[in-house]
Amino acid sequence: MTRIVHVSDLHFELAPERFKPGIRQILDRSIPLLQATDPDLLVVTGDLTSYGCFDRSQLMGVRRWLDGLGLAYLAIPGNHDLSANTVRGSAYPIMETYEAVPWKRTNFASTFDQEPLVIVQEGPLTLLAIALREGDPDGALEQLSAALDDLDGPALVLGHYPLVATKDLGVLATFGYEGYIDGVRDRLLNLLLAQPLVRAYLCGHVHAQTVTTLGGELVQLSAGGLGPGASAGWILDVKGPNLEVRSLPGGGPRAFWPQEMLGDCDPLDYHLWCGNEPLIIPLSPSVS
Ligand SMILES: [Fe+2]
Ligand SMILES: [Fe+2]
Repeated sequence: MTRIVHVSDLHFELAPERFKPGIRQILDRSIPLLQATDPDLLVVTGDLTSYGCFDRSQLMGVRRWLDGLGLAYLAIPGNHDLSANTVRGSAYPIMETYEAVPWKRTNFASTFDQEPLVIVQEGPLTLLAIALREGDPDGALEQLSAALDDLDGPALVLGHYPLVATKDLGVLATFGYEGYIDGVRDRLLNLLLAQPLVRAYLCGHVHAQTVTTLGGELVQLSAGGLGPGASAGWILDVKGPNLEVRSLPGGGPRAFWPQEMLGDCDPLDYHLWCGNEPLIIPLSPSVS
């Protein structure tokens, strides 16, 4: 059996913690929970840090934390590790410093020594993990397009930003890709929808554990925010012809957004997926 575990939004900080006091201890509480899942691969869909794009030592710190798990892992950057655009960079000069440099010289690429698109094979699954900035100065979409053309089996695509709204109500009805990657979101979404072998898109950023549809059979899964909340991820098991998806509780807070941003929703219902049965995603597209 092949098992992928998906978490996101660690928001790791070196001491002294500047934005989230106690975040390191909170993250450490998830270590045994992650190790107990014994995955073939742990995937982390960005916001590894709170200000790694400003201070490379933050990314080096989270890399040491991830290395210390003793698990094979694949991490991609979020907007706090690789700022999405100059507007965000100006508005949040520490948390989202825009690095106007080629990919290889960014703090993320130089710390994790990886390309804007990473391709990993795990059992029958091809995982394609994309790091995306507004305008795609790194050519990640071109690489993804070529890789999608070459697929001959089921694939999961990983990115930081959700491509459709993850909730109908409250803050997440509008907080997603908008303001980050508006100019390249349609191209990414269209690439995914054009390749039926892509079975799911795994993302983060919204700090809530959600399941939505991108169109057709394509499912979008957001993990919660493992550090600041909602502390939850996904366990994805290949079982026979299907991918079986279950919730993985993390060791941190179960909610993130304040009640006044949730409309009338119950905070746990808003932040966590409450299905009793595993979510079943067929590995093969249905024939129509
Ligand atoms: Fe985040
Ligand atoms: Fe984010």
